[in-house]
Amino acid sequence: MHTVQCLLEALRAERRERRPAPAAPRPPAPPAEERLALPRGRAVLLRPIRPQDAEAEQAFVSGLSLASRHKRFHVGLRQLSPAMLHQMTVVDPAQHVALVAEALTPEPDAAPRLVADARYVHLAGQPGEAEFALAVADDWQSLGLGRTLIDRLARRARHQGLRALVGDVLPENRRMLVLMRGLGAHTRPHPDGPSLVQVVFPL
Ligand SMILES: CC(C)(COP(=O)(O)OP(=O)(O)OC[C@H]1O[C@@H](n2cnc3c(N)ncnc32)[C@H](O)[C@@H]1OP(=O)(O)O)[C@@H](O)C(=O)NCCC(=O)NCCS
Repeated sequence: MHTVQCLLEALRAERRERRPAPAAPRPPAPPAEERLALPRGRAVLLRPIRPQDAEAEQAFVSGLSLASRHKRFHVGLRQLSPAMLHQMTVVDPAQHVALVAEALTPEPDAAPRLVADARYVHLAGQPGEAEFALAVADDWQSLGLGRTLIDRLARRARHQGLRALVGDVLPENRRMLVLMRGLGAHTRPHPDGPSLVQVVFPL
């Protein structure tokens, strides 16, 4: 082959190699709302949190047992401050995905009762990762709600292109650690010391 042709061919090959690989197809967006049947004849509506949920969210948090509240927030908090309540109910879904489970009751006029809250927030400076946390009302635990909510958070996170959800968990929170390990997560020491462990859930 002529030298110039060889050079052109080499340049074309180099350009082909440098071309970015086609982006992986995005998984389909999970449904915004979903009815979920649970054991013991219970049912919930899983949906994104809304600003109008402030009162119900406050009731959910203050209704958790002291032990569950401590496991979720790691401090002796009785109820959410107005600033926290605002942060938790008025969210930018591009950065902060917050799902709640609303109990479905036969009484049509009953005020909405939230029985679980699961969320993640994208981590600034750590693209591809988000910090997650969740809590299920004590009398709704062990029904599969926690596991389902983590699955739904993971689906949304994959859709947003995240690679991992990372959560801070108390080392004595066996239930959460067993649940997450069963889903394929691993733990690592927490950078702030041994009072917490970090759970890393690859997506
Ligand atoms: C941890 C928590 C979210 C789990 O939610 P949940 O709805 O009770 O969990 P599930 O019913 O989906 O159970 C999931 C797994 O947890 C484990 N688990 C459930 N109940 C358990 C119990 N009584 N004892 C030990 N492990 C239990 C099991 O491994 C179960 O897996 P299985 O479905 O194969 O049996 C819930 O207990 C909770 O809100 N705790 C307080 C707050 C908290 O710890 N938050 C996590 C830190 S951010």
